[in-house]
Amino acid sequence: MKILSIVGARPNFMKIKPIYEEFKQRKIEQVLVHTGQHYDENMNRVFFEDLELPKPDVFLGIGSGTHGVQTGAMMSRIEEVLSEEKPDLTVVVGDVNSTLAGAISSIKMQIPVAHVEAGYRSFDMRMPEEINRILVDRISQFLFAPTEDAVTNLISEGADKKRIFFVGNVMVETLLSHFQKSKKSNILKILSLVPNSYGLMTIHRAENTADKKILIDLFNSLAKIDIKIIVPLHPRTKKVLEEAGYLKNIGKNIEIIEPLGYLDFLWLMSNSKFIMTDSGGIQEEALMLDVPCITLRENTERVVTLKNGANILIGMDPLKLSSAISEISKRKKKYPKPPLWDDKVSKRIADAIIGHPELYFL
Ligand code: UD1
Repeated sequence: MKILSIVGARPNFMKIKPIYEEFKQRKIEQVLVHTGQHYDENMNRVFFEDLELPKPDVFLGIGSGTHGVQTGAMMSRIEEVLSEEKPDLTVVVGDVNSTLAGAISSIKMQIPVAHVEAGYRSFDMRMPEEINRILVDRISQFLFAPTEDAVTNLISEGADKKRIFFVGNVMVETLLSHFQKSKKSNILKILSLVPNSYGLMTIHRAENTADKKILIDLFNSLAKIDIKIIVPLHPRTKKVLEEAGYLKNIGKNIEIIEPLGYLDFLWLMSNSKFIMTDSGGIQEEALMLDVPCITLRENTERVVTLKNGANILIGMDPLKLSSAISEISKRKKKYPKPPLWDDKVSKRIADAIIGHPELYFL
């Protein structure tokens, strides 16, 4: 049996890690393909090092572009790789453009697709990721759902029940197996930070960076808050703020840093008083680390994180920011964890793929 896995963007790397290791342990032949969607040192290589992922077997070097240009270029190259490698199954993870390109190219060549992180829905078609999720789930033969609500979403869309497997959250498996290692990080020392004395923010979504005024309003209102805020800045957000000439005028309590590697970020997050983010995966990691989370979006596909107040949605409304921070900072406590968010997710995935050869048929 031969399995080909496709990754490309930062949040893919921690999702593929445990799956890759599980297949390796079972001596399954594997091909790891990297589309090159993320290519900067700190968006890409540092993750392969931190996660001890092998160098990809195939690197496509596609890089940035509009959605059509990027996805199209990936599809045409992935098709070539698939015809050469002839895998029995393709694994795609998450909801990025590399996930979509991999799934479409594979199914068009009659190669079955396994989608890890199936069924998440924000019900917001303004998000490119929501479009990717819906399309990938519709054409995949194995739907690996992280939560019970994701299973419900798939069923209500008419997915074939025997193709849905509730396996839990694979990113959590990576977090659990790397947390100990993250404690060796020097990031607090480098930034001269004391645990629990600062907030952390990440912001990069297309919807949140398209209007520079909204983005700057958010930073302005952060500047009025009496706590240090660390912001590892995504290249797209950096570009918007730079072009607006805002970076040199940023509030004194705000410290802009380069995007961090996996282990440094995990350690910085676990020691923070709270986190503000528009990322998907960080909402889940915050819950696992018991760090209160403020999500800078109107909706979330990670609805399970909203339970027990671990995560609150405030959109990009600067007026809601300071009250959200004071409310959520009081809440720091141990949050109950969702079922199957554990260290056996990749085992469940591999068991399903190996145990259900009948599902390979389209
Ligand atoms: C992608 C995912 C998003 C995920 C995010 C994590 C899609 C549709 N979106 O968004 O779901 O949360 O990754 O980071 O796939 N750039 C660089 N260097 C890089 C990568 C990107 O400078 O290594 C810049 C380029 O200017 C590029 C922009 O960032 O145009 C956006 O990159 P892109 O890959 O299109 O999407 P992300 O915003 O990173």
